[in-house]
Amino acid sequence: MNVKNYVRLEFSSLPENVSFARSCVGAFASQLDCTLEDIEEIKLVVSEAVSNSIIHGYNNDPSQTIEVVVSILENNSLEIIIKDYGRGIENIDQAMEPTYSSDPSRMGLGFTFMRSFMDEMDVVSEPGKGTSVRLLRCFPSQDHRAMA
Ligand SMILES: Nc1ncnc2c1ncn2[C@@H]1O[C@H](COP(=O)(O)OP(=O)(O)O)[C@@H](O)[C@H]1O
Ligand SMILES: [Mg+2]
Repeated sequence: MNVKNYVRLEFSSLPENVSFARSCVGAFASQLDCTLEDIEEIKLVVSEAVSNSIIHGYNNDPSQTIEVVVSILENNSLEIIIKDYGRGIENIDQAMEPTYSSDPSRMGLGFTFMRSFMDEMDVVSEPGKGTSVRLLRCFPSQDHRAMA
């Protein structure tokens, strides 16, 4: 599907950039006809995915790079791609299970939140190469709303 508008972010894998990424994506998404609650959910999933790249992908090494591309597609859906070049995920099905975490001190709900707040979630990962998470959130088109 064609992209109507997009922003590409690239930033250091520092914890302070979690709030940077969530604010940027939230601000970009606010041009869509959506509620504040929608924006809060979008910000939450960005935090979860970027945190995963920092903590799990890069084992908190601040010298690495995270990429986020957020796009508004032709049908007014919002696509967010979060990418790292870190450790990768051995078993994606297991990683997505609610409450599974490779770190016993964590809750293991990041992917569960991403899946429940977004309409689509695709994870592509290769051990030793990195992880890319694609999230899609659909919004009714403005034409459709105007007719309703
Ligand atoms: N970007 C990533 N790179 C490597 N492993 C990841 C990444 N994202 C998630 N994982 C793996 O998937 C598991 C589940 O992630 P998540 O549901 O967010 O739970 P949590 O972050 O609490 O562990 C993580 O514990 C980790 O093993
Ligand atoms: Mg997580």
